[in-house]
Amino acid sequence: MRQVYINGEFKKEDDAKVSVFDRGLLFSDSLYEVTSVINGKLIDFNNHMKRLDRSMTELKFKKLLNHKDILAFHRKLIELNNLEEGMIYLQVTRGVADRSFDMPKNEIQPTVLAFTQEKKIIESEGAKNGIKVMTLDDMRWKRCDIKTTQLLYASMAKTEATLKGFDDAWMIRQGYITEGSSSNAWIIKGKIIMTRHADNLILSGITREAIFKCAKDLGYEVVTKNISLQDAQSAHEAFITSATAFIMPVVKINSNQIGDGKPGKFTTALRSEYIKQAIATAI
Ligand code: PDD
Repeated sequence: MRQVYINGEFKKEDDAKVSVFDRGLLFSDSLYEVTSVINGKLIDFNNHMKRLDRSMTELKFKKLLNHKDILAFHRKLIELNNLEEGMIYLQVTRGVADRSFDMPKNEIQPTVLAFTQEKKIIESEGAKNGIKVMTLDDMRWKRCDIKTTQLLYASMAKTEATLKGFDDAWMIRQGYITEGSSSNAWIIKGKIIMTRHADNLILSGITREAIFKCAKDLGYEVVTKNISLQDAQSAHEAFITSATAFIMPVVKINSNQIGDGKPGKFTTALRSEYIKQAIATAI
């Protein structure tokens, strides 16, 4: 049984409890971060914490955590659960209050919980063979830049895609691809790597940011722009990025095969470079 972290304590997963009045449960008034772990070390932890701070500022959460303490309990969770490869999920809710749409005016104590999950990231099936995505309407709210646990549409989209035999969904708003259900979306045409600009309609991924650097280090050009479905379906290569996928090739979009239906060479090179840099800088 896993050991999880809850409000300053480590407990067996069956013993960790949150209140039925927690605003995270009742209103999804709640934020999260997912940090990957390779060789028992955290990938890009500081940037995940910076994004958590930004999310907390946007939602005006009481700041009761500092990065040093969060790092300490992440490391303890890795140790207690012997985690070699996978991820740590961290969730911070506004806290416990009587149910009311009006957010509590006095600062309440946030609920903080975290747990480990094992996952093969480096040797994953998707990385080897590529994944198939289907496109769906992006029906989410317009603050996708905040990493909240309001994930119902993302979960519905992913489920619809898998029920139809795809691996994931790419979402489309006003004719342009925004992102994957839990990842950023990219295409490559010729030597140009493209992804949507970051605004309120997508989550600015930590992996996405790292890819800009890797691409530059490899001498590739990255352009941020609106990507239409037609652009995507006629791309030479496509891929997704996220903390739990790193870079994963996309080999089919709806009924269109991308390239020769196998992971493309730029995608493969970027993935290797990313893994190299991520492992070298893990803490
Ligand atoms: N999801 N866009 C969305 C909607 C996401 O949910 C995620 C991450 C990303 C990629 O962000 P990052 O590179 O920082 O992981 C983009 C995480 C992995 C999840 O919900 O499990």
